[in-house]
Amino acid sequence: MDCPSPSQPNWLEILRRAEPDRVVWIRERDLQEELLQEYREALHAICGSLAGECSLAGGEPLKTWEQIERLLMHFRNWGVTRTSVVVTTGGGALSDAVGFAAAIWKRGVRLIHIPTTPLAAVDAAWGGKTGINWGGSKNQLGTFAPPLIVHVDARWMRTLPSREFHAGLAEVAKHALLDKTAFAACSDNLPPWPPSAQGHLAWTQFLKQSAQVKQNVVQEDPEERGVRCILNLGHTVAHAIEAFTASSTEPWLHGEAVAVGLHFALFEMSQLALSERPREAQAEVQAARMVQWLHEYVPVPNIWPFGAHDLWAHMVHDKKNVANEVRDVAWRGVGEVVWPVHWKKDSFEATWNAFVRSWNNAHSDDSN
Ligand SMILES: NC(=O)c1ccc[n+]([C@@H]2O[C@H](COP(=O)([O-])OP(=O)(O)OC[C@H]3O[C@@H](n4cnc5c(N)ncnc54)[C@H](O)[C@@H]3O)[C@@H](O)[C@H]2O)c1
Ligand SMILES: [Zn+2]
Repeated sequence: MDCPSPSQPNWLEILRRAEPDRVVWIRERDLQEELLQEYREALHAICGSLAGECSLAGGEPLKTWEQIERLLMHFRNWGVTRTSVVVTTGGGALSDAVGFAAAIWKRGVRLIHIPTTPLAAVDAAWGGKTGINWGGSKNQLGTFAPPLIVHVDARWMRTLPSREFHAGLAEVAKHALLDKTAFAACSDNLPPWPPSAQGHLAWTQFLKQSAQVKQNVVQEDPEERGVRCILNLGHTVAHAIEAFTASSTEPWLHGEAVAVGLHFALFEMSQLALSERPREAQAEVQAARMVQWLHEYVPVPNIWPFGAHDLWAHMVHDKKNVANEVRDVAWRGVGEVVWPVHWKKDSFEATWNAFVRSWNNAHSDDSN
């Protein structure tokens, strides 16, 4: 499987070289008009005119079979063929859904993703996984369909609600914990968000660098049969938090849940509850730095309506697990992770309760 890389040539050059018979553009509603116009003109310069263009309400409701049928009908009306290119501009839900529709239309139409959220820019748009929700379960139907290129431009993110923007940076923190270069980039001062014109370039560069971490892992394991599992760092707890809060009045965003999952992984490292593997010499210092970065960039809700027991109940039902044990990724220093490690109910609950006590102490110190 060919994987694009953040260091590839300009996306318009890639589009030109693809020699598409038609180019169609599917994007989020509510994006900035002047940026849309700039990109429309750039696309017209390459392909004459677009064979189809539509804007959709993005987010999770797009990841349904009904919406896929609507997208397929657009493809039919626009005359999309196997030599066409579909350009997406949206969050991870939009690239997942449109990517899935493009992958099954005539057995696969080529894609270019232009992500409009940090999560999509460093994670969802990369790696070729597409999917929709089905039968009450997330991402049940999907394909591997790597895009020709992912074009990151932080200017698209200006219209994103601040809470969504910051939550997406949890995946940046995850990548920093997996890679020394990405970790070092997190110590550079970033411009405040939303930034000035110059600041967008710094954010774009920063997000591209983070995306490279996912690409490196995906290149090693494109079909998720081995090492790609390390990208689940922080996600075992995160999925349980999301599942627990999903039906509440205050559902957590994925990134917020991942942030707590990462804090928990860093706490676990200080306890070594999960594996005998020793810490790296620098691990405590690195963990402290990343805890600080997460506090600065990824605020999480103050109220945690779930306890160890609630999280365990969700974790143990994950079909990846066997015999009442839960598989997880343990962190032992930047780029040093252990997979798989197994939680048992008692050790998870004791470690979670100790984590919450330590979190509450740190936060009551903050407010003094
Ligand atoms: N394919 C993968 O490998 C992969 C990896 C991680 C996550 N995902 C998927 O990504 C999805 C989450 O993606 P996300 O965090 O980008 O959220 P999202 O796509 O759900 O977008 C969040 C909300 O922001 C809106 N939005 C997006 N960009 C905007 C912008 N620039 N301005 C204004 N509004 C905007 C969307 O319409 C939506 O309402 C999930 O469905 C998840 O399963 C996929
Ligand atoms: Zn994630």
